[in-house]
Amino acid sequence: MRFLKVALIVSAVIVPTVSAVGAIQFYHTVEGTPLDLSYAPDEGKDTEAVKHFLDTGENIYTGDEAIFPEGESLYLTACSGCHGHYAEGKLGPGLNDDYWTYTKNETDKGLFETIYGGASGMMGPQYSNLNLDEMLKVVAWIRHLYQGDPKKAKWLTPEQRETFKPFDPKAHAG
Ligand code: HEC
Repeated sequence: MRFLKVALIVSAVIVPTVSAVGAIQFYHTVEGTPLDLSYAPDEGKDTEAVKHFLDTGENIYTGDEAIFPEGESLYLTACSGCHGHYAEGKLGPGLNDDYWTYTKNETDKGLFETIYGGASGMMGPQYSNLNLDEMLKVVAWIRHLYQGDPKKAKWLTPEQRETFKPFDPKAHAG
Protein backbone atom coordinates (compact mmCIF):
# COMPACT_ATOMS: atom_id res chain seq x y z
CA MET A 1 0.00 0.00 0.00
CA ARG A 2 2.64 2.45 1.03
CA PHE A 3 4.68 1.54 -2.07
CA LEU A 4 1.66 2.24 -4.27
CA LYS A 5 1.17 5.64 -2.65
CA VAL A 6 4.79 6.58 -3.20
CA ALA A 7 4.65 5.37 -6.79
CA LEU A 8 1.56 7.49 -7.45
CA ILE A 9 3.16 10.59 -5.97
CA VAL A 10 6.36 10.04 -7.95
CA SER A 11 4.51 9.58 -11.24
CA ALA A 12 2.37 12.66 -10.57
CA VAL A 13 5.56 14.67 -10.22
CA ILE A 14 7.33 13.21 -13.23
CA VAL A 15 4.53 13.20 -15.83
CA PRO A 16 4.04 16.99 -16.09
CA THR A 17 7.81 17.50 -16.55
CA VAL A 18 7.87 15.07 -19.45
CA SER A 19 4.90 16.62 -21.25
CA ALA A 20 6.48 20.08 -20.97
CA VAL A 21 9.07 19.18 -23.62
CA GLY A 22 6.36 18.12 -26.04
CA ALA A 23 4.30 15.01 -26.51
CA ILE A 24 6.06 13.48 -29.48
CA GLN A 25 9.52 12.14 -30.17
CA PHE A 26 11.59 13.19 -33.18
CA TYR A 27 14.06 10.92 -34.99
CA HIS A 28 17.16 11.36 -37.12
CA THR A 29 16.29 10.87 -40.80
CA VAL A 30 19.12 8.45 -41.61
CA GLU A 31 20.11 6.94 -38.25
CA GLY A 32 16.60 6.61 -36.82
CA THR A 33 17.95 7.65 -33.40
CA PRO A 34 15.99 10.07 -31.16
CA LEU A 35 16.85 13.72 -31.77
CA ASP A 36 17.93 15.86 -28.83
CA LEU A 37 16.12 19.17 -29.34
CA SER A 38 18.12 20.85 -26.56
CA TYR A 39 20.76 21.89 -29.13
CA ALA A 40 18.27 24.40 -30.54
CA PRO A 41 18.88 28.07 -29.66
CA ASP A 42 16.75 29.37 -26.77
CA GLU A 43 15.24 32.00 -29.01
CA GLY A 44 12.21 30.74 -30.93
CA LYS A 45 11.71 27.75 -28.60
CA ASP A 46 8.39 28.75 -27.12
CA THR A 47 6.39 30.42 -29.88
CA GLU A 48 2.80 29.26 -30.28
CA ALA A 49 3.73 27.45 -33.50
CA VAL A 50 6.66 25.59 -31.90
CA LYS A 51 4.63 24.57 -28.84
CA HIS A 52 1.82 23.26 -31.06
CA PHE A 53 4.32 21.45 -33.28
CA LEU A 54 6.14 19.75 -30.38
CA ASP A 55 2.80 18.49 -29.06
CA THR A 56 1.22 17.37 -32.33
CA GLY A 57 3.75 17.33 -35.18
CA GLU A 58 1.51 19.80 -37.06
CA ASN A 59 3.03 22.94 -38.53
CA ILE A 60 0.49 25.76 -38.31
CA TYR A 61 2.71 27.90 -40.60
CA THR A 62 2.13 25.62 -43.61
CA GLY A 63 -0.22 27.55 -45.92
CA ASP A 64 0.04 30.74 -43.81
CA GLU A 65 0.95 33.51 -46.27
CA ALA A 66 1.82 35.92 -43.47
CA ILE A 67 5.07 34.08 -42.76
CA PHE A 68 6.12 33.50 -46.39
CA PRO A 69 8.44 36.55 -46.66
CA GLU A 70 10.39 35.44 -43.59
CA GLY A 71 10.33 31.79 -44.68
CA GLU A 72 11.69 32.76 -48.07
CA SER A 73 14.47 34.91 -46.68
CA LEU A 74 15.55 32.16 -44.22
CA TYR A 75 15.45 29.59 -47.02
CA LEU A 76 17.58 31.82 -49.26
CA THR A 77 20.17 32.25 -46.50
CA ALA A 78 20.36 28.67 -45.23
CA CYS A 79 19.29 26.31 -48.03
CA SER A 80 19.17 27.74 -51.56
CA GLY A 81 22.96 27.58 -52.09
CA CYS A 82 22.65 23.78 -52.17
CA HIS A 83 18.98 23.19 -53.06
CA GLY A 84 18.43 25.99 -55.61
CA HIS A 85 16.60 29.32 -55.51
CA TYR A 86 13.16 27.72 -55.87
CA ALA A 87 14.19 24.30 -54.45
CA GLU A 88 14.64 22.96 -57.97
CA GLY A 89 17.83 21.14 -56.85
CA LYS A 90 21.52 21.93 -57.27
CA LEU A 91 24.18 20.26 -55.16
CA GLY A 92 21.39 18.82 -53.03
CA PRO A 93 18.17 17.25 -54.36
CA GLY A 94 15.09 19.20 -55.48
CA LEU A 95 12.53 19.82 -52.73
CA ASN A 96 9.69 21.17 -54.91
CA ASP A 97 8.20 17.92 -56.28
CA ASP A 98 6.72 14.77 -54.76
CA TYR A 99 9.84 12.62 -55.05
CA TRP A 100 11.71 12.26 -51.76
CA THR A 101 14.81 10.17 -51.04
CA TYR A 102 13.40 9.85 -47.52
CA THR A 103 9.63 9.40 -47.74
CA LYS A 104 9.17 10.81 -44.22
CA ASN A 105 9.75 14.24 -45.77
CA GLU A 106 6.15 13.97 -47.03
CA THR A 107 5.12 15.08 -43.56
CA ASP A 108 6.02 18.38 -41.91
CA LYS A 109 7.30 16.38 -38.93
CA GLY A 110 9.66 14.40 -41.17
CA LEU A 111 10.86 17.49 -43.04
CA PHE A 112 11.54 19.24 -39.75
CA GLU A 113 13.52 16.19 -38.54
CA THR A 114 15.69 16.30 -41.68
CA ILE A 115 16.33 20.01 -41.21
CA TYR A 116 17.04 19.79 -37.47
CA GLY A 117 19.16 16.64 -37.49
CA GLY A 118 20.46 16.58 -41.09
CA ALA A 119 20.64 13.55 -43.39
CA SER A 120 23.88 12.29 -44.89
CA GLY A 121 27.01 13.89 -46.36
CA MET A 122 26.73 17.63 -46.89
CA MET A 123 23.23 17.76 -45.42
CA GLY A 124 24.33 18.57 -41.89
CA PRO A 125 22.15 19.44 -38.88
CA GLN A 126 20.77 22.96 -39.21
CA TYR A 127 20.29 23.84 -35.53
CA SER A 128 23.33 26.10 -35.57
CA ASN A 129 21.84 28.13 -38.47
CA LEU A 130 18.14 28.25 -37.55
CA ASN A 131 16.06 28.18 -34.40
CA LEU A 132 12.99 25.91 -34.08
CA ASP A 133 10.51 28.61 -35.07
CA GLU A 134 12.62 29.52 -38.10
CA MET A 135 12.78 25.84 -39.14
CA LEU A 136 8.98 25.66 -39.16
CA LYS A 137 8.88 28.80 -41.35
CA VAL A 138 11.37 27.22 -43.77
CA VAL A 139 9.19 24.08 -43.89
CA ALA A 140 6.18 26.27 -44.78
CA TRP A 141 8.15 28.04 -47.51
CA ILE A 142 9.32 24.72 -49.02
CA ARG A 143 5.69 23.54 -49.08
CA HIS A 144 4.75 26.78 -50.85
CA LEU A 145 7.44 26.14 -53.49
CA TYR A 146 5.80 22.82 -54.45
CA GLN A 147 5.19 22.61 -58.20
CA GLY A 148 3.61 19.15 -58.41
CA ASP A 149 0.03 17.91 -58.32
CA PRO A 150 -1.66 19.19 -55.13
CA LYS A 151 -3.44 15.83 -54.81
CA LYS A 152 -0.05 14.21 -54.15
CA ALA A 153 0.90 16.75 -51.49
CA LYS A 154 0.48 14.50 -48.45
CA TRP A 155 1.62 17.32 -46.14
CA LEU A 156 -1.50 19.40 -46.93
CA THR A 157 -4.85 18.91 -45.26
CA PRO A 158 -7.67 17.74 -47.61
CA GLU A 159 -9.05 21.33 -47.59
CA GLN A 160 -5.62 22.81 -48.41
CA ARG A 161 -5.26 20.35 -51.32
CA GLU A 162 -8.46 21.71 -52.88
CA THR A 163 -7.19 25.29 -53.01
CA PHE A 164 -3.39 24.88 -53.30
CA LYS A 165 -1.88 26.53 -56.39
CA PRO A 166 1.42 24.99 -57.54
CA PHE A 167 4.27 27.51 -57.29
CA ASP A 168 5.00 29.49 -60.45
CA PRO A 169 8.57 30.93 -60.47
CA LYS A 170 7.74 33.36 -63.30
CA ALA A 171 4.81 34.85 -61.43
CA HIS A 172 6.92 35.09 -58.27
CA ALA A 173 9.87 36.82 -59.94
CA GLY A 174 7.62 39.32 -61.75
C1 HEC B 1 25.96 22.34 -47.94
C2 HEC B 1 24.84 22.00 -48.79
C3 HEC B 1 23.46 21.90 -48.18
C4 HEC B 1 22.79 22.84 -47.41
C5 HEC B 1 23.28 24.19 -46.92
C6 HEC B 1 21.48 22.28 -47.15
N1 HEC B 1 21.36 21.04 -47.74
FE1 HEC B 1 19.74 19.81 -47.69
N2 HEC B 1 20.78 18.36 -48.65
C7 HEC B 1 22.04 18.51 -49.18
C8 HEC B 1 22.46 17.24 -49.76
C9 HEC B 1 23.78 16.95 -50.45
C10 HEC B 1 21.38 16.33 -49.55
C11 HEC B 1 21.33 14.83 -49.89
C12 HEC B 1 21.67 14.06 -48.62
C13 HEC B 1 21.06 12.70 -48.49
O1 HEC B 1 20.42 12.21 -49.44
O2 HEC B 1 21.17 12.12 -47.39
C14 HEC B 1 20.35 17.08 -48.87
C15 HEC B 1 19.12 16.54 -48.50
C16 HEC B 1 18.06 17.29 -48.02
C17 HEC B 1 16.73 16.78 -47.82
C18 HEC B 1 16.22 15.38 -48.10
C19 HEC B 1 15.51 15.40 -49.46
C20 HEC B 1 14.83 14.10 -49.86
O3 HEC B 1 14.68 13.89 -51.08
O4 HEC B 1 14.40 13.32 -49.00
C21 HEC B 1 15.97 17.85 -47.35
C22 HEC B 1 14.50 17.82 -46.99
C23 HEC B 1 16.86 18.97 -47.24
N3 HEC B 1 18.11 18.61 -47.65
C24 HEC B 1 16.45 20.23 -46.79
C25 HEC B 1 17.34 21.28 -46.56
C26 HEC B 1 16.93 22.56 -46.01
C27 HEC B 1 15.51 22.95 -45.67
C28 HEC B 1 18.06 23.31 -45.87
C29 HEC B 1 18.20 24.69 -45.28
C30 HEC B 1 17.75 24.83 -43.91
C31 HEC B 1 19.17 22.51 -46.37
N4 HEC B 1 18.69 21.29 -46.77
C32 HEC B 1 20.49 22.92 -46.42
C33 HEC B 1 22.82 19.63 -49.13
C34 HEC B 1 22.55 20.77 -48.39
